[in-house]
Amino acid sequence: MKKAKMTLVSEFTNAKIDKRIYGSFIEHLGRAVYGGIYEPGHPMADADGFRTDVIEEIKKLNVPIVRYPGGNFVSGYKWEDGVGPVENRPKRLELAWGVTEPNLFGTNEFAKWCKKADTECMMAVNLGLRGPVDAKNLVEYCNHKSGSYWSDLRRSHGYEEPHNIRLWCLGNEMDGDWQIGHKTAVEYGRTAAEAAKVMKWTDPSIETVLCGSSNMGMKTFGEWESTTLDLAYDKVDYVSLHLYFDNRPNDIESFLAKNMIMDDFIKTVVCICDYIKGKKHSKHQVNLSFDEWNVWYHSNGDYVEKWSTAPHQLEDIYNYEDTLVVALMLMTILKHADRVNIACIAQLVNVIAPIMTKNGGKCWEQTIFYPFMHLSNYGRGYTLISNLESPKHDCKEFTDVNDIESIATISEDKDELTIFTVNRNISENVLFDVKLMDFEGFEVIDSIEMSGFDPKAENNVNSQPVKPFKGEIPKIDNKTMQLNLKPLSWNVLRLKKTK
Ligand code: AHR
Repeated sequence: MKKAKMTLVSEFTNAKIDKRIYGSFIEHLGRAVYGGIYEPGHPMADADGFRTDVIEEIKKLNVPIVRYPGGNFVSGYKWEDGVGPVENRPKRLELAWGVTEPNLFGTNEFAKWCKKADTECMMAVNLGLRGPVDAKNLVEYCNHKSGSYWSDLRRSHGYEEPHNIRLWCLGNEMDGDWQIGHKTAVEYGRTAAEAAKVMKWTDPSIETVLCGSSNMGMKTFGEWESTTLDLAYDKVDYVSLHLYFDNRPNDIESFLAKNMIMDDFIKTVVCICDYIKGKKHSKHQVNLSFDEWNVWYHSNGDYVEKWSTAPHQLEDIYNYEDTLVVALMLMTILKHADRVNIACIAQLVNVIAPIMTKNGGKCWEQTIFYPFMHLSNYGRGYTLISNLESPKHDCKEFTDVNDIESIATISEDKDELTIFTVNRNISENVLFDVKLMDFEGFEVIDSIEMSGFDPKAENNVNSQPVKPFKGEIPKIDNKTMQLNLKPLSWNVLRLKKTK
């Protein structure tokens, strides 16, 4: 049988995990807002029209930040349309997705919803059709206490206390020609620098995220990051990365290896950030915000009626193989926790999302819900350095692919160890020896597994057969645990210091 091994030492930590890597994203797109988190009249809606059943699902995912309001949407958005008395808010043609935006839900509703969902807002400003002044006004509206035009306007809208939003995205995917107000790197770098400057003058406590490339395949990738960072370096704290994977053509082995592209993407952007830092003799370090990532392709080509409101749009139904890819992507982000401080699975509800709803009906968990929930709940504290040795295989698109991918985290108090492992071999079990060097008094308290499903198996509103189950509890023998990892499996092993 194939064998893999890994040794763990509690003191050998790799990085402190910023909990914001377990973030997500709500865009004004399809039924993410309307019919997703907000549905007045739904039997489970509260007095604000927020769906409490959806909030309960989101709490299970333990999501510390949610990016809002876009995405491509933000580049045409006038935030003033979404505040003040609802009856005065205009309906607008929304050009990014070809629909009508009713503006029944906006900045204040989102801030209020975040509190109820135990999360924080990561706000994006429009640097497509608008610019620094509108961005600065929004910071003042949200974060300034009182005594100025925009802060007093917020108060007059019924929000006496500021929202204190700390994290701000300087536009969205400005390198893409699909973006409303698409810009060259120089145009965007200058606009972003001036926007960040006045936004930070308005509230010096905020952090800003510069738009990096929309994906690694963009012709301008690399040049875009270096030019924009050169122009805005000292005014920004993070640079964004976006990446979606698909299984086209249908080739599961290559699909399961695609997170290697993500790994390369992260390493390259880190190098560019540090090159600009060196070039400028700067002490300031720019880190990474992987603020859109997921599998996305099942829904492509769906018909959407032009100018309709909240249509079914980008409603990917995920299967079991997607579960493993999502696990591998989030593990890749975790491996780079020293430089990736923020990450957002795109998106959260209905739109390429782990949580789905029926208008007026139930909400339910997609297959990808589970690895995200496990990593977000148990993958906190520190990542441990790993010397993982795994057998390898080749596939159509990649060579030297590890059969096993694994990462371990230890809680801040050093009392809980969690080992997350994927066996991406499609047909063979792998025996995985994990040596625990200095974990005296630790016992396995839980073993969670997903395996044995048809790779194309899905969940739906009426039944969710693809879900985790209890795995085998391995013995710790001579400081070593032996795990028998099934082909195409997701495995979470939780240990706790009990003595
Ligand atoms: O998440 C869906 C879309 O993907 C976002 O609006 C955009 O930023 C990206 O291209």
